[in-house]
Amino acid sequence: MDGRNTITRTSSFTLHCIEGYINNIFLVEYPEGILAIDPGVASDLPLIERYCAEVLRRPVTDITLSVVSHMHPDHAGGATGLRKKYGIPIAAHRLVDSWYAGVTGLIQHLLDIYMTQIVARRSKRPLRRISFKRIIKPDRPLIDSMYLPGFDDWRVLYIPGHTNHDIVLFNKKEKILYAADSIVNVRGSFFLPIPVIFKKKMISSYKKMGALNASTILLAHGGTISGTRGKDIFSYLSGLVFEPVPALARLPYRLSRFSPGIWKPYMKKRFSAAVKKIIK
Ligand SMILES: [Fe+2]
Repeated sequence: MDGRNTITRTSSFTLHCIEGYINNIFLVEYPEGILAIDPGVASDLPLIERYCAEVLRRPVTDITLSVVSHMHPDHAGGATGLRKKYGIPIAAHRLVDSWYAGVTGLIQHLLDIYMTQIVARRSKRPLRRISFKRIIKPDRPLIDSMYLPGFDDWRVLYIPGHTNHDIVLFNKKEKILYAADSIVNVRGSFFLPIPVIFKKKMISSYKKMGALNASTILLAHGGTISGTRGKDIFSYLSGLVFEPVPALARLPYRLSRFSPGIWKPYMKKRFSAAVKKIIK
């Protein structure tokens, strides 16, 4: 297997970080079952199968739950593949299917796949088919503050901002936070996810994650953050939310406006502002 994969043992579980096509895939291994967190793009499935056989020496069916932090292709694609082939249930926020619903959702889905391919090309990865089912109907719908079904040492936190349905996971005993896309770590420099759609909500979400005082922060993109820096990083990123969008991120921002989860709240806001004006 790839030398960049890491294995960390804690008193509760063994944490496996596998380098996927464009993101880190986490397998949390317990004697009684395995939790897969954001198991990569659809074409990462053979990688997970190989990892289970060669490193874990356990059948893939020992994975008893896949968690999808949000509906971007590098987070949801692999989970749909694991469910289709092995019947492994998916847990995701209850709003998850609002993101790619309807015709405009389909457009957003295709654009997000295209943007993921661009990221892969920039990272000098070969082009792969990464399409996946855009409506996932989670088997375990999640809400804020609940414990993960079957893995009740992990609490779900709803942290909208990057999308309308992002979740992260916190293990209080081990003080480990899986922060998904909320922090992007590029060789020790920290960046916002691209895009940040709901800016005020993103700031509240950073505040919420900062208050956890996690001592280990696992990221979908970039290396793990250890120690007490988490709070400072969240507050640094909060300060960037209303800054102008960097040139490199402008295209993804322009292409991220078709999801009903984006345009519906925007239209609602515009409509109520217009009504208020008429009433005055
Ligand atoms: Fe994302």
